[in-house]
Amino acid sequence: MTMAIKRSSDPQENSPRQPRKNSPKPQNYEVTLLSPEANKLESDNNEEKIRPQKLADYIGQKDLKGILNIAIAAAKGRQDSLDHLLLYGPPGLGKTTMSLILAAEMGVNCKITSAPALERPRDITGLLVNLQPGDILFIDEIHRLNRMTEELLYPAMEDFRLDITIGKGQTAKTRSIPLPSFTLVGATTKAGALSSPLRDRFGIIQRLRFYELDELTLIVKRTAEIINTSITESGAVEIARRSRGTPRIANRLLRRVRDYVEVHSGETITKELAATAMDLFDVDTHGLDWTDRLVLNTIIEQFNGGPAGLEAIAAATGEDRKTIEEVYEPYLLQNGYLSRTHRGRIVTTKTYRHLGYEPDEPEYKQAELF
Ligand code: ADE
Repeated sequence: MTMAIKRSSDPQENSPRQPRKNSPKPQNYEVTLLSPEANKLESDNNEEKIRPQKLADYIGQKDLKGILNIAIAAAKGRQDSLDHLLLYGPPGLGKTTMSLILAAEMGVNCKITSAPALERPRDITGLLVNLQPGDILFIDEIHRLNRMTEELLYPAMEDFRLDITIGKGQTAKTRSIPLPSFTLVGATTKAGALSSPLRDRFGIIQRLRFYELDELTLIVKRTAEIINTSITESGAVEIARRSRGTPRIANRLLRRVRDYVEVHSGETITKELAATAMDLFDVDTHGLDWTDRLVLNTIIEQFNGGPAGLEAIAAATGEDRKTIEEVYEPYLLQNGYLSRTHRGRIVTTKTYRHLGYEPDEPEYKQAELF
């Protein structure tokens, strides 16, 4: 997936390689989609319209915003590019949004790609040589870079230099091409899967956290206003409560609830209408969806509450192992529905209670032992 986001009326457009001193903040983005997957980013009902454009409009992630505010001010003061930044955490928490905000705040372009799209060396070299000074290169799923691409990035990140090898064997020669200074923003759901040479080249490494209820409520209200939907305070809280701490889910639920309310001739999303709609979509009062409950029920019913290995859970549920590990599990682990032991995953007493098992059932007792 590769997407170039450029200012549509960039005063420096025709003067490449000029340092961007005090360049104006971009007001409009021209989005160039370079692969079908990139469409996902843009097309989900005007995702771009609801993304905050400035750090001040970004709700939540207070610590991260504080750190980035300082980094932006310092880089601007030095008329330099930002330090390379690694953002990690579960999907949907705003890694791409933060990268776009950084570009807007710095007055530079943001090119968005993902590691699986950087298959051949020329994929990454093509992107690097076309950067303008100060630009941000966003690489999603950076833990999935192949070795050759990763090794090309080392001198690029450290010395803004591209080392390319021409020819093969004894006659092979290395040529160095200077690159403009740029900022690499890497995003990953698995920081531990990054090699240490790559991780060590990031000046700032920050985790994105799940959002609190009050933060998600603000996000729901903000999005409702942008998409012209009337919502009560308690309606927004009800959607936030079922959004697993994740803005992307909150915004998705909001749109589905809005559709439900429209179809049922309602004008305003109230708590009751939101609850009825989300019950219908199988999102329960704790925000667990059908797949969450399938995973938890499977561990209870087929593995006596665990421990169960990830492969075994994936096989028993028919879900992809990586999807369970990277999409479903983080919230279940962090919110006490699942625990990890060296022998596998186990469910907790909270899970038994939530799924309606009686405390004297044998599986429930087993969970108490751990
Ligand atoms: N929309 C999605 N994430 C957001 C955030 N963190 N702040 C404001 N609006 C958002």
